[in-house]
Amino acid sequence: MLASPNNKDLLGQFQVHLSCVDSTNNYAANLLKAGKARSGTVILADEQTNGRGQRGAVWQSEPGMNLQFSALWMPEHLSITAQKYMNFAVVVALVRYFKKKTIVAHIKWPNDILVQGRKIGGVLIESTINENSIGHTIIGVGLNVNQTEFGNLNATSLKNQLGQFFPVREVLDGVLYELNFTLGMLLDKRFNDLDTLYFKHLYGFNQYLEFQDKNGFFRGEIRGVDDFGNVQIEKNGQVVSYGIKEIKFVN
Ligand code: BTN
Repeated sequence: MLASPNNKDLLGQFQVHLSCVDSTNNYAANLLKAGKARSGTVILADEQTNGRGQRGAVWQSEPGMNLQFSALWMPEHLSITAQKYMNFAVVVALVRYFKKKTIVAHIKWPNDILVQGRKIGGVLIESTINENSIGHTIIGVGLNVNQTEFGNLNATSLKNQLGQFFPVREVLDGVLYELNFTLGMLLDKRFNDLDTLYFKHLYGFNQYLEFQDKNGFFRGEIRGVDDFGNVQIEKNGQVVSYGIKEIKFVN
């Protein structure tokens, strides 16, 4: 039995499988605009011509090789304070999925999934806000599954890690199972548990790393994530919050 207490929002109960689309996040946004969106709908694409990543980056993926999907999630009365934990829930779900595949994955703030220091997946969450609650959320997930060559990108895949082919749909089912579990934790307001799971797997948590901010390079330690989702880094004895465009991890 899935853990989500709210079956009406269970991800994957409606599915759309597209061979090619610009971006599954755009497709989901268009469903919303057209008033045709149902919570729990998953849009899976074999190929995206304009896959989008964070910070305006492009998400590249060999057609048919990897998992690329967006899920529409529209639970009622989800406070905007839960937004940070929605991010946590999604990345923790991916880490849990990899763990079941015997792979130790780490989270690179905010939403990258790394295995042995190489990127295996990323998440792009786009939400609308109504006053104090979250209206609609589009959870976009890209995971490298069967692609084995990444050019000059520092990336890896399930196949590179485990040496075998994985049917993309099977990976989708496994990931949706974990997403429904961790989003269930969020709906149950198990924020402490999500904190524990997120920080347990956060790359660089309480460890010295090299960063770059607008003032230059520095060494610091990640101390947490504030209520707005900004990373909190201790720099020269002071904790400073940074948004996604304000800080770079060096190497
Ligand atoms: C990142 O690492 O910067 C986030 C990548 C998110 C990629 C996924 S693939 C499915 C969905 N559709 C998009 O256009 N982007 C997300």
